[in-house]
Amino acid sequence: MSVHTHDDIDWADRLAQLRMADALDAEALAPVARRLLSGSAGRPTVVDVGCGAGGMSVHFARELDGGTIVLLDATPALLAEAQRAVGAVAGERVEVVGVHGDLADPRLADRLPAADLVWASGVVHHVGDQQAALRTLAGLLRPGAVLAISEGGLEMRCLPWDLGIGRPGLEQRLLAARAEWFAGMRAGIAGSVALPYGWPRALREAGLEDVESFGALIDHPMPGSDLLREYVVHRVGWLAESVGDRLDSDDRATVAALVDPDGPAFLGHRADLYLFGAKAIHSGRSR
Ligand SMILES: C[S@@+](CC[C@H](N)C(=O)[O-])C[C@H]1O[C@@H](n2cnc3c(N)ncnc32)[C@H](O)[C@@H]1O
Repeated sequence: MSVHTHDDIDWADRLAQLRMADALDAEALAPVARRLLSGSAGRPTVVDVGCGAGGMSVHFARELDGGTIVLLDATPALLAEAQRAVGAVAGERVEVVGVHGDLADPRLADRLPAADLVWASGVVHHVGDQQAALRTLAGLLRPGAVLAISEGGLEMRCLPWDLGIGRPGLEQRLLAARAEWFAGMRAGIAGSVALPYGWPRALREAGLEDVESFGALIDHPMPGSDLLREYVVHRVGWLAESVGDRLDSDDRATVAALVDPDGPAFLGHRADLYLFGAKAIHSGRSR
């Protein structure tokens, strides 16, 4: 079966960044995994849709004492990495199954076992009809099971306001350009449909009840670890690359200097980087 993403993004190219983000988000997301599984008894089936490098399912695997984790992604290289990472933690206790699949496939339920928990983080906004995708995800649930999505929240911040190079406020302008890029990305997906309301209502429209939202704070204060510095270098370079000339040329020159490992302004040598932001998690229960 031929499966691809709909957003024209080379996800395999983002493996290193996704792995670093998984490590940096671990402290914040481990309690979220525990909370989402707290109502599951016996040997539950968890489906992680758009699993990326598998970070959240590593937490699910640590929490479970038996059961199955189904990893689903449209990018084979990420799916393979997720299977490796989750399998290393699951051992013999938890079965790990990889499925190469597309969230936009309305018949996804035919390919998957009925789930006690479906988790979909940062993937629903990459398909054209997000409301239809939520209906598809809700259709994977057993009665009384939970769908949880991570979408929105507060965009990560990592840079001081004044870097001592270029104009102050670079990160704000990068994020503003990224918001424009996002609108273009959405508009460019074939069959893109507006979702002119918030995620809780979208979950209710998908037929779920007991809908709730909560936040998970990502907080790595200065001076930060080597991993944090490496992540920030990747993130800033990737943000600038993705927004292209939506960013003014002077800011693009500043970013080029910041990510140059041989230059005097290299971000990787700074002790004033941090990571601060929040993930929003929205969940609902099937009837
Ligand atoms: C932003 S990453 C999120 C990864 C992970 N869930 C996380 O929160 O770190 C988006 C993931 O969704 C996958 N993806 C994008 N479009 C998809 C689709 N239509 N069906 C399945 N997976 C998709 C990408 O390959 C990538 O692994």
